[in-house]
Amino acid sequence: MTSPLTAAPDYAERLIRSRRAVRAFRPDPVPTDTMRAIFSLAGAAPSNSNTQPWTVEVVSGAMRDRLGDALVAAHAHNLLSVDFPYRDELYSDVHQRRRRDFGETIYAALGIDRGDRAARDAHNAESLRFYGAPHVALLCAPANADARMTADLGMYGQTLLLAMTAYGVASCPQGLLGFYGNTIRETLNIRDSKVLFGISFGYALENAPVNNLTITRAELDETTRFHE
Ligand SMILES: Cc1cc2nc3c(=O)[nH]c(=O)nc-3n(C[C@H](O)[C@H](O)[C@H](O)COP(=O)(O)O)c2cc1C
Repeated sequence: MTSPLTAAPDYAERLIRSRRAVRAFRPDPVPTDTMRAIFSLAGAAPSNSNTQPWTVEVVSGAMRDRLGDALVAAHAHNLLSVDFPYRDELYSDVHQRRRRDFGETIYAALGIDRGDRAARDAHNAESLRFYGAPHVALLCAPANADARMTADLGMYGQTLLLAMTAYGVASCPQGLLGFYGNTIRETLNIRDSKVLFGISFGYALENAPVNNLTITRAELDETTRFHE
């Protein structure tokens, strides 16, 4: 079967390469119809045996403000509850180097000296208000989720980001939101699920320097081997 889309690689190039993490948003909300179209499209993501093990909590309006306040308060009181434990040591040297390069780019755009821990912490705390985005989608997995299920959530996440891009909606995936699982569950009154990450979304503040970063990628041969 030949899909008509096989003739449209330049569309895929533009869609995939124009998605980027946006970290400054305008306050205006995304219309409900657009949101429903985007989240319906994201549901077309593949998953192991079509299990679709994600649940998605989309938070807007007064509840978005409440959640932001609760996350900032949890951060201030160091009330971390990391659903998917994280350790810096998981990253190898090459991963650490890429992370450092990314950090240098973003902190330079924000005018933050990398050694200025207080300013970096303030920026992280502020990110818990979704970088000013009017909406956040929290991507949740079953409480017993393993690596297989989290891979499915990753598939869903990228499909959602691309659907947003196609509809002109800007986004930022935020793993940091998953460091406050208890706060999210309590505020939204949800049970029996773990938060992997959130995606803040809305319309980009186009001129913000932080939204105009050049984030590079590893060369193809650094990550990909072709075997014959
Ligand atoms: C699962 C995941 C978690 C992320 N967590 C954060 C985060 O907590 N805060 C943030 O500002 N960006 C976060 N990002 C965005 C990455 O920094 C960004 O995708 C990466 O630097 C590549 O840049 P680009 O998305 O603009 O191409 C996350 C991205 C992913 C996929």
